[in-house]
Amino acid sequence: MSAPFLDTFARPINYLRVSVTDRCNLRCVYCMPAAGIPLLGHAEILSYEEISRIVRVAGERGIHKVRLTGGEPLTRLGLTDLVGLIAALPEIDDISMTTNGLLLSRYAARLAAAGLSRVNVSLDTLRPERFRAMTRLGELEKVWEGVEAAEAAGLVPLKFNVVVLRGFNDDEVVDLAGLTLAQERHIRFIEVMPLGHSDLWSKDGFVPMREVQSSIERDLGPLEQVGHDDPVVGNGPARYWRLPGARGTIGFISPVSDHFCSGCNRLRLTADGRLRPCLLSDQEIDLRGPLRAGVSDEALAALIAQAVVCKPERHRLVEGLSAPGREMSQIGG
Ligand code: 5AD
Ligand code: SF4
Repeated sequence: MSAPFLDTFARPINYLRVSVTDRCNLRCVYCMPAAGIPLLGHAEILSYEEISRIVRVAGERGIHKVRLTGGEPLTRLGLTDLVGLIAALPEIDDISMTTNGLLLSRYAARLAAAGLSRVNVSLDTLRPERFRAMTRLGELEKVWEGVEAAEAAGLVPLKFNVVVLRGFNDDEVVDLAGLTLAQERHIRFIEVMPLGHSDLWSKDGFVPMREVQSSIERDLGPLEQVGHDDPVVGNGPARYWRLPGARGTIGFISPVSDHFCSGCNRLRLTADGRLRPCLLSDQEIDLRGPLRAGVSDEALAALIAQAVVCKPERHRLVEGLSAPGREMSQIGG
């Protein structure tokens, strides 16, 4: 297997997050305005062949893990075909997906058969009426059907992503943590980041992870740290803990209060074919133009290497409070 790219700060870059669409069947309050956002046209979006070519070339240069994101990836027709194309690439040994779960019950078995390894499901609340308020459109029952279908299809370990927002779901973190007790379900609490239109962050919406951890420990007792050798830990940004005797783990992702940039191992590919070295910086490298102009594999690899070299050392949210201009659904979460 090829050695990973090393960036300017000696970080190995072995992980590519691929946004397959900017469309979504929800409008989560921290992600999109109620009216949605202007969407890309069909011709602006990379085809599955274009995506899999980029992944192949990146794979030959050290990318070994791929995550499909959106928008909502399952709103794009034929996504299982893309999973199959990527699974056939010998350099890619792990394909996962982040989804809101609404369409998962329909596709879980086919996705698993095509080569998807596991899914992360966004789940910010356990209360149906609150789910509707936070997503503006969603039916919580459908997400649970999706979760069960994913588990039945072997898309595990299944992780829930919870964005904690004051006044919306900060009073539910203990109940959500309880999901890890009886079954092997993992939960990751995430600090809301200032992206695109969201003005929740600079106001009162932000909840630091240390507060979430204290609430859980106050009600359920001290958490035990999960060792680095545990397979659930991986090399992502979460720090993992476990309630005594629990089957699943509890992760905390603190992009704002305790940025983890020094361990960052990823690049992002937007649905319109731009490589984004850092989620929180607007710098992007266009691959779609060169692809459609007949770029060679070598020149494509050089563009990918250029994105690796451009990776900033860290974001400056805390100093500058500057937010990128694109929404999460446009960049890929
Ligand atoms: N801050 C933090 N997380 C976010 N997500 C979307 N928008 C934000 C934001 N502003 C997360 C969602 C979803 C994933 C795609 O990105 O929880 O799980
Ligand atoms: Fe859609 Fe995910 Fe954004 Fe919610 S967070 S609106 S599910 S893309």
